[in-house]
Amino acid sequence: MERVLITGGAGFIGSNLSNFLDKKNCKVTIIDDLSIGRKKNVQNKKINFIVSNIKNINELKKIGNFDTIVHLAAKAEILIPKKDEKKYFETNIEGLQQVLNFASQKKVKKFIFASSASIYGDTKNVKVRENFVQNPKHYYAYTKYIGEKMIEKYCKNNDINFSILRFFNVYGPNSTAVVARFVAQHLQNKPITIYGNGLQKRDFIHVNDLNRVILKIINTSKGNNQIFNIGSGIAKRILDLKNIIAKNHKHILLEKRSDDIEISIANIYKVKKKLNWKPIITFQKGLNEMIKLDRYKLQNMRLPTINSQKKLLKKFNKLK
Ligand SMILES: NC(=O)c1ccc[n+]([C@@H]2O[C@H](COP(=O)([O-])OP(=O)(O)OC[C@H]3O[C@@H](n4cnc5c(N)ncnc54)[C@H](O)[C@@H]3O)[C@@H](O)[C@H]2O)c1
Repeated sequence: MERVLITGGAGFIGSNLSNFLDKKNCKVTIIDDLSIGRKKNVQNKKINFIVSNIKNINELKKIGNFDTIVHLAAKAEILIPKKDEKKYFETNIEGLQQVLNFASQKKVKKFIFASSASIYGDTKNVKVRENFVQNPKHYYAYTKYIGEKMIEKYCKNNDINFSILRFFNVYGPNSTAVVARFVAQHLQNKPITIYGNGLQKRDFIHVNDLNRVILKIINTSKGNNQIFNIGSGIAKRILDLKNIIAKNHKHILLEKRSDDIEISIANIYKVKKKLNWKPIITFQKGLNEMIKLDRYKLQNMRLPTINSQKKLLKKFNKLK
């Protein structure tokens, strides 16, 4: 039985992954400080739940030993006030270093890291391959970029196999990101708010497809010491996304987030070939399932007012 530690396991991806791996006969432990994630996202009693900041991971007694760590814990918003950049550094860089030290002390065999498509920056309408030039634009993307470099070096020096996964836009149950937000705005009969002109292209991947690729990496050596794009390879404009969710519903175009990427689409040739994996959940099917499972949550999701979004955008854009 594989012993897997998932940091950030109470968040969107972590909660889905924990339940998935538990069903696939892994012994799952979660560490999460509940700064964003919620304990009720993981109600499975077989999963060992440790409430702690990852920065303190090395001081935790009785945490046990693991074969694999899936490191998801991170601060992961793009639109952040300047005063929060320090928190991003503390979690995404210092926190990562603590988890790497833990992995080395515990002689963990595999370290799987949630990186982000945002490290590529603007990609000029091409489907990016893993060796595409990296030009992170905003602070969050920088922390992921630096995180990748730390992991490559540290894992090589300490004999740990690593897999770096550059997630594109992940959606599914428990998410609060753009797909969930648009659905919530629709269900709550509020205008759907779009940053910029809505012509930005994004690549949406369902969290269950992502779970399947992580399981493959855990169970085989084929993903060892590799970087993979994890997306669908299919581009959708944000306005099209809005129309798929609610064609005749009112929408409002807000100011563009400065440094926002125009186009983000994955080339997934490498992961298909090396891991014999491909996404199997169509967007429409994934969306319907998500609405079915999360309807109540989405109907009651707290949404920022249009004015508060405008204010935050102004502040954020002024700094650039
Ligand atoms: N969701 C996406 O589309 C997407 C895309 C690219 C990359 N990623 C990356 O995948 C990972 C998971 O994303 P998510 O969407 O599930 O985010 P999320 O915010 O829902 O989950 C992150 C979890 O980490 C926890 N956490 C944050 N700081 C912590 C700390 N210092 N100590 C312990 N726990 C802490 C939070 O409480 C939360 O439960 C993140 O690293 C994110 O950057 C996500």
